[in-house]
Amino acid sequence: MASPSSLSNLITIIIISIISISASSANLYENVDITWGDGRAKILNNGDLLTLSLDQSSGSGFQSKNEYLFGKIDMQIKLVPGNSAGTVTAYYLKSPGTTWDEIDFEFLGNLSGDPYILHTNVFSQGKGNREQQFYLWFDPTLDFHTYSILWNPQRIIFSVDGTPIREFKNAESVGVPYLKSQPMRIYSSLWNADDWATRGGLVKTDWTQAPFSSSYRNYNDATACVWSASAGKSSCNDNTLKSQSGGGGGGDGWLNEELDSSNEERLKWVQKKYMVYNYCFDTSRFPLGIPPECSL
Ligand SMILES: *[C@@H]1O[C@H](CO)[C@@H](O)[C@H](O)[C@H]1NC(C)=O
Repeated sequence: MASPSSLSNLITIIIISIISISASSANLYENVDITWGDGRAKILNNGDLLTLSLDQSSGSGFQSKNEYLFGKIDMQIKLVPGNSAGTVTAYYLKSPGTTWDEIDFEFLGNLSGDPYILHTNVFSQGKGNREQQFYLWFDPTLDFHTYSILWNPQRIIFSVDGTPIREFKNAESVGVPYLKSQPMRIYSSLWNADDWATRGGLVKTDWTQAPFSSSYRNYNDATACVWSASAGKSSCNDNTLKSQSGGGGGGDGWLNEELDSSNEERLKWVQKKYMVYNYCFDTSRFPLGIPPECSL
């Protein structure tokens, strides 16, 4: 017979595993809906993992159940390995309608061994044309990495593994509409974009490599203001931030978060060493002058 202490150890182990199973299984089943792809998108491992796939007949995608009005949202993504040329894995926040707001991460695939490009954009009231593109300082296909969007009333900060790569400031003072009144949902998809994605469309998708697949885990919206369409308000209005009931912690500090000096330095490092394109420097594209937010 088991001794009392080994029995209590066993019970402890069982309780801990039940807690960890329920903590991790909550995730993707509860938080996202698969929206297209006819079975090509799958939620696996009790909701821990989501995979998207793309073949010659279709890609696939999912969206968050929640809509948000401001938030700090993390997702871990592992991109299509090998020859991913022509494929695009998109991960973005977007509101509906013709004058929509949108915050984009798009990962443009490449031939084996050639670098992905991380393409970013910000749309406010239906107007985009604010692309910045980056190489990454690691191979994004070997493991999961965390891609984060901080969106508060003053700024939008795109981060990769906690390193800020782009900041879009509220530029209402110079006449640029800011993303502040349209709730957005998270969307993600894997699709064929070989007309433009890789070396501007020169390299086409090699369908002999299909199906292509990207993976997602650890979706975390614990520090985000969830919009309730029925109540017509967000969870942040009445100070019931989701973060206070668990998850991200840190209360509502992110609502006023800005880059501190060490993060400013890291942002500069990324922009100096890894930036491929910045619309703010593209004077030939904007003959009437670069967009006003670029001067902030
Ligand atoms: C793919 O690799 C080529 C050659 O290194 C590079 O010029 C290009 O920027 C890379 N990325 C994409 C998405 O085309």
